[in-house]
Parts: sequence; structure tokens; C-alpha cells
Amino acid sequence: MANVAPTIEPTELDPYAPEAQLNPNPYYDRLRELDPVIYVPGRDVWLVPGHAEAVQVLRNHADFVSGDGVTFEVPSTRTERYPLIENDPPVHDHIRRSMQPSFTKRAIEVFRPGVEAAAASIVQDALAQGEFDAVKVVAQEMPDRAMTLLTGITPPSAQTLADWSDATSRGEEPSGTEEHATQVMEALTWLVAEGLPNMPAHCLGRLIVDDGGNDGGLEEGSQRIMTLASIWLAGIDSTGAVLGNAINAFIDHPDQWDLLRSRPDLIPNAAEELLRYGTPFRAFFRRTRATAEVEGIEIPAGSRVAVMLAAANRDPRQFPDPHRLDITRENAKTHLAFGNALHVCLGSPLARMEITSLLTELTRGVERFERAGDAIQSPSQTVHKLETLPVRIVPAEGA
Ligand code: HEM
Repeated sequence: MANVAPTIEPTELDPYAPEAQLNPNPYYDRLRELDPVIYVPGRDVWLVPGHAEAVQVLRNHADFVSGDGVTFEVPSTRTERYPLIENDPPVHDHIRRSMQPSFTKRAIEVFRPGVEAAAASIVQDALAQGEFDAVKVVAQEMPDRAMTLLTGITPPSAQTLADWSDATSRGEEPSGTEEHATQVMEALTWLVAEGLPNMPAHCLGRLIVDDGGNDGGLEEGSQRIMTLASIWLAGIDSTGAVLGNAINAFIDHPDQWDLLRSRPDLIPNAAEELLRYGTPFRAFFRRTRATAEVEGIEIPAGSRVAVMLAAANRDPRQFPDPHRLDITRENAKTHLAFGNALHVCLGSPLARMEITSLLTELTRGVERFERAGDAIQSPSQTVHKLETLPVRIVPAEGA
């Protein structure tokens, strides 16, 4: 017989309570110690905070579906679903097959020179400024440039694109507003009216919109547009958040920064550790259509289930001493920042390239980061990220 999950009042363990949002780690620790699955009635949500259980849910796509929405709220104004993330097999797999060849590590390698040049110019600009907001000058710039290289779409400005990408997730969280929904519609309208006509002859955007993907399998019309739109918007806020969180983490852990500067061979592993430590997506959601079970706890049909990626990435059963940033951590790569199983992040090879390229340039140019003011956390309830991060750079010798 399945057990029943403990019920906790939202005031006590609400994932959207200000304290849980601003200082999530003690909250995540408490959740994980309670039970593998916790029901919060005030929000009508089932929380899965442990690493092993999160993997279990993500792998069980038959019981925990994506097709009924992967965010807290099911979008009300956007009528078209995102073809990859909001579909289940077989439709999801069909679309993913059309896109996957463009996203293998090998395929993404063609962007390396461009991504590395972008990283170098961003770091040069930062060094020239000396004191700046690392979110605006570094974190948001990198994905803006990388996604233009990848997709062929040149946005009106890095800030506009960052705002559109931010609105994509914020519109579907409890405090989402009409303004967020309007911004998403604005992004989609701009994409069709201005983004697509100005794309160069050979780019991912044309491959999707003109050819229907690598195997021509994408349906003409909205399926193609929404596939491109979702890839484009998914690659901005996510990577920007990781990069801002990474610089912030190194300010707090100067020993790890010194170690990375002396051991550039650790950069790929440091990128994984930073993804674990500064996981941007707090959670992705699944829905049940029939009774499902996690570790003997029954979840009724029609439930909303939060797979708490950021909590899972601080699970001591998976990551000993989880609140310590350790760029030598051996299993850092088992983090769930990119999800797991069939919806695992399509863009992860590009995101990894952006993070490692930027770290490479920063380790060459920056001896130390210092705080130049208080970091301000974004009000986003979905993405754990900074809105501003004032820093002062002590340049490396010869930089
Ligand atoms: C560090 C940066 C990134 C993080 C942390 C991240 C995280 C994630 C996560 C957690 C998922 C799984 C969602 C789920 O299971 O429901 C996902 C899926 C996805 N991501 Fe990323 N992402 C990042 C960057 C990117 C980039 C750069 C792109 C595009 C170039 C991208 C495109 C996608 C797409 C299209 C999906 C849906 C895949 C599918 O459903 O098959 N992401 N991402």
C-alpha cells in the first residue's frame, strides 16, 4: 500500500514564500529531511526535493507528463505550446530528432571561434571598465552573442532579449502578470516580423523555418516558429543566470578562484560545479494523469509535481558537503541543472561552451573580483539569478 505524503501548510513550507525564495538552501535542506514527496495544499503542488527522486520522476515520463505544462501555471494567453519542452512522446521525440543533429557536441564546435571571440571581447570590455555590473556587462552579454551566432537572429538589444527571456518563465509563475504575458507576445511578434526576415542565408533559424529541421520533419507554420522561438528564448536567461551566479560564487570563494587560475585544466569541471552550485531553474514541473508513485508515496491523478532541480543539486546524499563550492568535486557532472532523460537540455553543449570560454578569458584577465556594492536578487520565482552584481576587478598581471 502506498503511503500518503505529509501535508504541510503553505506558510510553513511554501516554495514561493519570500524566505524560501531569497534564502532557499536552508529551506531545501528542511524539505529533503522531511520526506521524498511533500504536498503543499495552499499551492496544490507536490514537491520532489531529493536528487534520486527527481531523477526518478524525470525518467518516468509516462506517469509524469510534460504535455500538460512544465511550469507552475499553465499559460493562459499563449495559445501555441512550445513543441519540445511541452510535448511527450511520440510528438516530442519526432521534433527532437529533427533538431538533435544541430546540437551534438560536434555540431556546436563550429561556433567555438565565435563564442571564444565573444568571451574575449566581453572580458576586455569589463577590464577596461574596472568597476561595473557583472550581470549587464558580462552575464547577459555572453548568451546574447552566442545565441545570435547559433540562431542567426539579431535581437533589438541584449537587454530587450534578456527581458523577453525573463518574461517567458515569469509569466507562468504564481506572481506572473499580464505584463509578462504581453512581453512574451511582443517577443514572438518581433521574431516573425523582424527577426526571421533578417536572418542570414545559412543559420539554424533558416534550417528550422525554411527546411523544417535536419530531416524536414517539422510541420510548416507555427510548429516551426515555436520550435525556433523556444530554442532562442531558452538559451538566454538560463545561461546568463549561471554566469552571474558563478561570478558571485567566486567572490565568496576566492580560494576556488585562485585554484582555477592556477589550474586551467579544471575549467570544464568548474563549469559543472558552478551549474550545480548556482542552478538557475529552481524547478520544472510535471503533471499526473493517473495515480503515480514516488518512493511508495501516492500522488493522485491531475497533480502538479515540482521537480526541484536546485534542491536536488544540494542533496548531501548525492553531493557530500553540498553547500561548499568545490571545483574539483568528482561527481559535479551528475547535477540536474540541465534536467535529465528525454527532455534534458538540448542547448547544453552551447551553454557549456559559453561558460568554459568565459571562464578561460576571466581566469587570464582577472586576478580577483571584489564587491563594489550589494548584489540584488531577481524577483523571478523560477530562475535563481541576480538582477545586479556590482563588482570591481583586480586585473591579472599583464592583462
Ligand atoms: C546554463 C544554461 C541552461 C540551463 C541551466 C538549461 C536548463 C534546461 C533544463 C533544466 C531543461 C529541461 C526542462 C524539463 O525537463 O522540462 C532544458 C530543456 C531545454 N533547453 Fe536548456 N538550459 C540552458 C541553456 C539552453 C540553451 C543555450 C538552449 C538553446 C540553445 C536551450 C534549449 C533548451 C531546449 C530547446 C529544451 C527542451 C528540450 C526538450 O524538451 O527536449 N537551453 N534546459
